[in-house]
Amino acid sequence: MKGIILAGGSGTRLHPITRAVSKQLLPIYDKPMIYYPLSTLMLAGLREILLITTPHDQDAFRRLLGDGSQLGIQITYVVQDQPNGLAEALILGEEFLAGDRCALILGDNLFYGPGLGTHLETNTFIDGALIFAYQVSDPSHYGVVEFDDTGQVLSIEEKPPKPKSSYAVPGIYFYDSKASELARALTPSSRGELEITALNNAYLERGQLRVEVLSRATTWLDTGTHESLYEAGGLIRTLQHRTGLRIGDVEQIGSDQGWVTPSDATEKTESSASGSA
Ligand code: DAU
Repeated sequence: MKGIILAGGSGTRLHPITRAVSKQLLPIYDKPMIYYPLSTLMLAGLREILLITTPHDQDAFRRLLGDGSQLGIQITYVVQDQPNGLAEALILGEEFLAGDRCALILGDNLFYGPGLGTHLETNTFIDGALIFAYQVSDPSHYGVVEFDDTGQVLSIEEKPPKPKSSYAVPGIYFYDSKASELARALTPSSRGELEITALNNAYLERGQLRVEVLSRATTWLDTGTHESLYEAGGLIRTLQHRTGLRIGDVEQIGSDQGWVTPSDATEKTESSASGSA
């Protein structure tokens, strides 16, 4: 399985900050936002990562992450010319995937929970699609899953004004090798985007969609607004201070996974930051 991080978009809800800087490079407490979704993929054991950015932000991501070798991973870059929707990631990633399965994660989604990486890793041989459901107080800003009494999925709706449940779909999705082909068959929604919800519904119609409810022990935040960005920074700060453990520290994860030695990670990260890598 390969990983895709979608880190484009226009970040309009964070204007004026994101007029000059990519949203996914803004700090969540002591690290750039992109570290958190990247760390989720690394904890799931994924080492081949495609990073999709806007044309003008790609250089900044390259300065930050380089080719990923300092973390023991391989990062490939692709540009999304326009924010044409989340499902376009599977089309832009088709060549990179070369028929492999993938985990797609949104660059502004932060996951934290005990054993989450190991849990995600068990899904890397999926047939069909696996998405998650997470209970939130206001689901109308998200994809929303409707279940019947037996837990079967009835529908998934994108940002419904009247949500049929309180289960939102977080921005991490596991797909088998059919995802690019199914994404190419989608038509743009009324807001002109290839919706990830439409791709998930395509799997649902084929009887190949699994939805797993994420335990409340897992924290999921999407950090696309000033309020949520501020809350996420506070949460990471509190958890790190309290436990002494670092969250989303990709250098440490690369070394804990045994992919690099701790000194490799520090040396290469420093030389890449000074522009010599
Ligand atoms: O956060 C989870 C939610 O993400 C899901 O519940 C929804 O079903 C899904 O549509 C999405 O909703 P958002 O309104 O949060 O999506 P947004 O437009 O904010 O884009 C999410 C991230 O993807 C953001 O970091 C920007 C990036 N993006 C977005 C689009 C539309 C791209 O890189 N390219 C794009 O074309």
